[in-house]
Amino acid sequence: MPATPPRDARGHRALSRRWYTSRDVFDLEMERIFLGRWLYAGRSSDLDAPGRCLGHDVGSESAIVVRDSDFGLRAFHNQCRHRGTRLCDAGLTDVGRAIRCPYHAWTYSLRGELIGAPNMADVTGFSRSEWPLHPVAVAEWEGCVMLNFAEAPVPFAEEFAPLLGKFGPWRLDELRPVHEIGYDVGANWKLVFQNYSECYHCPTLHPHLDRLTPYRGAANDLEEGPFLGGPMELTRPDGSMTMSGARCAPPLSDLTDARADLVYYYTVLPNLLLSLHPDYVMIHRLEPQDVDRTRVVCQWLFHPDAAAAPGFDPSDAIEFWNVTNLQDWEVSERSQRGISSRRYVPGPYSNLESMIAAWDREYLRIMNGDDA
Ligand code: FES
Ligand SMILES: [Fe+2]
Repeated sequence: MPATPPRDARGHRALSRRWYTSRDVFDLEMERIFLGRWLYAGRSSDLDAPGRCLGHDVGSESAIVVRDSDFGLRAFHNQCRHRGTRLCDAGLTDVGRAIRCPYHAWTYSLRGELIGAPNMADVTGFSRSEWPLHPVAVAEWEGCVMLNFAEAPVPFAEEFAPLLGKFGPWRLDELRPVHEIGYDVGANWKLVFQNYSECYHCPTLHPHLDRLTPYRGAANDLEEGPFLGGPMELTRPDGSMTMSGARCAPPLSDLTDARADLVYYYTVLPNLLLSLHPDYVMIHRLEPQDVDRTRVVCQWLFHPDAAAAPGFDPSDAIEFWNVTNLQDWEVSERSQRGISSRRYVPGPYSNLESMIAAWDREYLRIMNGDDA
């Protein structure tokens, strides 16, 4: 475990009301943060055969990610080049050998080329080759499908440089989701990030969690920038974050004994929360719906060998985090309601909230805003 630097919120205060309640701010966030950076769309193992397709919506935008016939990943704007119709719904589908528009049956190959356009041959000057689907940048990282809607995106390896190779011992690319729960949370997306970034609330809100990882036993190994977090000590040497406190699978492949006694939590801007346990990994994916509504999709990932073992039962881990999630969403919704009051004045962060202070700094930097 890295040496624990003293935590210091540097006298920062919570963000002002407008950052949580203004539709103009929300629209600007969509532009600068969600459509201008690399974001997490789903697990690439779900796209396990040519024609498997993942639809992912971000505000007014939508992308489709497909596994092509060479087993590469391709992503496109989810709109027909004829009259703009959405081609696929959000979530996983199977399009077979081609993507066919449900309106007038223009048809695209898995590489995005327009290969069929009924009754267009007699249209003067029309050439199918001029009407491919618009591409969206796609990258695969640790088994995660990452998308970027920007016209000229920063290369993935550049934006995610601080995280490349960081999670090697967990072999994330080999893990498979065994369970998923979606939650509709009545709170601004930033409140979900901020709630995840501190354990000051753990003794009050999550006594069952605080028994397994006492709230003062937290350290940070990423302290500035878009990616923040670090480990917490497990009280039980062979334990994990489960209702019983015991592991529900053997330790993940390459974890050393030192790492196997810790649980690591990272916030990955803009829409990913990554929780690395000795025996499994949990991913929260945030999908802002409106200034005060956020869809959160939680996935529990295990190694396929563990999941195939006789008697495998992940319910101890699933129940633990489902209970914790619901407590966190409830208090985030309360925060949204309180902050929405005209009488709200941002209060001071404790030093146990230094990660939120760092998160706010990065957020304001990207938004090019100060909080006067
Ligand atoms: S809008 Fe897609 S074929 Fe007409
Ligand atoms: Fe919490």
